[in-house]
Amino acid sequence: MIDIHVVILAAGKGTRMKSAMPKVLHLLAGRPIIEHVLATVDRLRATSTTLVVGHGSDQVKAALAGRQGLQYVIQSPQLGTGHALLQAEPVLKGMKGVVLLLYGDVPLLEPGTLLRLLETHRETGAALTVLTTKLADPYGYGRIVRDNSGRVERIVEERDASAEQRGIAEINSGIYALSLDSLFGHLHDLATDNSQDEYYLTDLVAIYRQKRLLVESLRLESADELRGVNSRQDLAELSRTVRQRKNRELMIDGVTLEDPATSYVDVAVTVGADTVLGPAVRLEGHTVIGERCRIHAGCRLTDAVVKDDVVVLDHSVVVDSMIGPGATVGPMAHIRPKSVIGRSARVGNFVELKKTSLGEGSKASHLAYLGDATVGDGVNVGAGTITCNYDGEKKHQTVIEDDVFIGSDSQLIAPVTIGKGAYVGAGSSISEDVPAGALAIARGRQVVKPEWATDRKAKRDAGKGDR
Ligand code: UD1
Ligand code: CA
Repeated sequence: MIDIHVVILAAGKGTRMKSAMPKVLHLLAGRPIIEHVLATVDRLRATSTTLVVGHGSDQVKAALAGRQGLQYVIQSPQLGTGHALLQAEPVLKGMKGVVLLLYGDVPLLEPGTLLRLLETHRETGAALTVLTTKLADPYGYGRIVRDNSGRVERIVEERDASAEQRGIAEINSGIYALSLDSLFGHLHDLATDNSQDEYYLTDLVAIYRQKRLLVESLRLESADELRGVNSRQDLAELSRTVRQRKNRELMIDGVTLEDPATSYVDVAVTVGADTVLGPAVRLEGHTVIGERCRIHAGCRLTDAVVKDDVVVLDHSVVVDSMIGPGATVGPMAHIRPKSVIGRSARVGNFVELKKTSLGEGSKASHLAYLGDATVGDGVNVGAGTITCNYDGEKKHQTVIEDDVFIGSDSQLIAPVTIGKGAYVGAGSSISEDVPAGALAIARGRQVVKPEWATDRKAKRDAGKGDR
């Protein structure tokens, strides 16, 4: 196998995004644009991957800090695509093989397409192979000018093209395979005699032809994969394409999407067979959903792990938490980070959990807040129960052991432990531990004044008669 050295150009400003953030960090279907490109590159088993950064380079590096095996070169100022590639010379000097040149803002390319480009390059023995396609509206792109024998002669940019050349439908994708042995020697020959005073990488084609180096091309039937992100509109359209791809994969894998047009499933999410996703469901980050689950309309799950046979009812939010097999959550539940919901447990409407584990078969069915709590198996948490976990300075733990019954509208003032099998009477404010098997009642005693209301009414009526 020939060595593949990937170089990704991402130094440009992305003016049309009108953003303080570097273009390649904008989220496309939930993942930074550049991460889509890198995910494709991951599949190619490249010898090296170099990112050419400039505008916002610190931000780009920080965002990719978790990635291994990336090398960076800085291009400053940005004097064009040819100049950008030239910046990679120090890190690629003395290397053998082929440079695969990609753009950081062209995220839909499939690994198979790039492998085909490399294959064409290798089979033909070319020094440069350019990926092209035909567009109904080629405006703005470099045009592929071919000679009488149909060979690529040169590439002209829109601004430098004659009226006749502007009529050419075949465009330069900007993606190339370039043999390293001839590359850097000739890259230094690029000049800036064009309308933008830039070093155009595209001029390399004419230079190679002059030097009798072989220039080849691979033309794609469909331009879809070659689309770049230049504006927020592009971002929205390409996001939709990525989502549609993901939705198609899910359906092929046996997932029902009630309305694919409104299913927002990030690329890294996995969903088991026979699971049904309702309309307007968002599955984000590294969420993993099991088999035979039902995620109803309007739910958002971020980095959640959902086991088999779980039902998440409408408009629930689950973040960085685990839901055990057969559990039911929602509607309108809020499961905040580091929560664990046990097997067959039930978390009902308007219940919020934070850093709380709920044991097997336990229930918090209505209007509760459980924060920093460890709840055992078979526990019943009554409606309106609140863990008072915060004293204004620190968070404190609540422990509720197995088979406890917490009556409705109770406050558990942490730190506090309710022992196994204990009962807490409705409306209690519990500030001391409750031993196992006990009943704790902590509320004002009821006072009854017989006839009080009747007497008052009678007095009032009598007063009216006086007037
Ligand atoms: C380029 C090609 C054009 C092709 C088009 C495809 C040139 C001269 N033209 O044009 O033929 O049809 O791509 O999209 O190559 N970049 C840098 N440093 C720079 C300039 C650009 O890193 O100094 C990066 C950008 O961040 C971007 C990529 O290179 O990722 C392309 O730059 P862009 O300015 O969009 O090129 P185009 O003018 O669109
Ligand atoms: Ca562009």
